[in-house]
Amino acid sequence: MSRSLTLQLDAGTHYLCTCGGSKNAPYCDGSHKATPFQPLALELTEPKEVEISGMVNAQSLPA
Ligand code: FES
Repeated sequence: MSRSLTLQLDAGTHYLCTCGGSKNAPYCDGSHKATPFQPLALELTEPKEVEISGMVNAQSLPA
């Protein structure tokens, strides 16, 4: 099951978890290394509100 999530991100590079194994969801914590998944890199030149959906395991997200 997936759901959408809105993040307020600062400028810079952010790595989002796509494997569902991160203990710091929705951010990658390196847990994907034993899987075929790779994190999604978001490169922002300015602070931005970003909505993500369908790319992370909803059970690993904070409530
Ligand atoms: S921990 Fe899930 S992609 Fe890195």
